[in-house]
Amino acid sequence: MTDHTRALTLVLGGTGKTGRRVVQRLTAQGEPVRIGSRSGGVPFDWEDPATWAPALSGVKAAYVSYYPDVAAPGAPETIGSFAQVAVSSGTRRLVLLSGRGEEESLACEKALAESGADCTILRCSWFSQNFSEGYMLEPVLSGHVFLPAGPVGEPFLDADDIADVAAAVLTRAGHAGQVYELTGPRLLTFADAVAEIAAVTGRPIGYTEVSAAGYAEALAAEGVPAEVIELLTYLFTTVLDGRNAHLDDGIQQVLGRPARDFADFARDAAATGIWNQK
Ligand SMILES: NC(=O)c1ccc[n+]([C@@H]2O[C@H](COP(=O)([O-])OP(=O)(O)OC[C@H]3O[C@@H](n4cnc5c(N)ncnc54)[C@H](OP(=O)(O)O)[C@@H]3O)[C@@H](O)[C@H]2O)c1
Repeated sequence: MTDHTRALTLVLGGTGKTGRRVVQRLTAQGEPVRIGSRSGGVPFDWEDPATWAPALSGVKAAYVSYYPDVAAPGAPETIGSFAQVAVSSGTRRLVLLSGRGEEESLACEKALAESGADCTILRCSWFSQNFSEGYMLEPVLSGHVFLPAGPVGEPFLDADDIADVAAAVLTRAGHAGQVYELTGPRLLTFADAVAEIAAVTGRPIGYTEVSAAGYAEALAAEGVPAEVIELLTYLFTTVLDGRNAHLDDGIQQVLGRPARDFADFARDAAATGIWNQK
């Protein structure tokens, strides 16, 4: 039986790359939304479990975008604890933003399911928006990108597609218990992706593959915290070893249309002026 006292959808990470877009779509559909983040009206902090139950009050469904990363140490335990609090607070519908080809992500997905919630898993490839709204924006602006990534293809995924899928599975029946592998429609190397950004901006942006050790050293010299360096080098070495160099059709399955191409992302991001800051 539907609990009509529960109208809200809680969007964790609701000011981030995907969550912000999920909030936009749900709001446009007339769905009442609560942003779950430290700066939300009802603050939500992954590091402070006392904030979880208040954020879940009156909530029928939640989009679970974990911070900092589903591959970070402790993520499965924290996500599992959150899911248990959600179910015991009466929020049974959970949609997890997960990673593709990562053991740690599988552990997060298992922890979520063990809560007994009605779960949907969105297993995502690397976001295109990492270049425009994430940690690769600064290197792009600097005019030269140094990464420990060679000739391996990655099906870069548009955060707008993730949000379209999340909004659909949160508001339509038939998606509980499903796992969707979400990818873009084309494999690109990181060098290819940077070259496409350079082409649409009309600016020269170089790309150099560096060793994982050299990358870690450079980040340390910039003052990046050790745990972030560890996570990034793990993502570029282990997860980018070729295991994810194939396309999947989760976008087509849920939305009945193809995924957005990286070229469309690059054109639209360039039009915002985001890459013209320096
Ligand atoms: N980037 C990729 O290529 C990729 C690929 C696959 C999966 N993923 C997964 O996607 C997730 C990240 O999603 P995203 O990129 O959409 O988010 P994001 O852009 O990294 O956004 C960060 C969000 O988290 C909130 N936040 C930061 N610290 C918090 C805390 N301690 N407690 C609660 N909220 C906090 C921020 O708001 P406040 O500052 O207001 O708290 C903001 O809303 C990660 O779990 C990652 O593993 C990423």
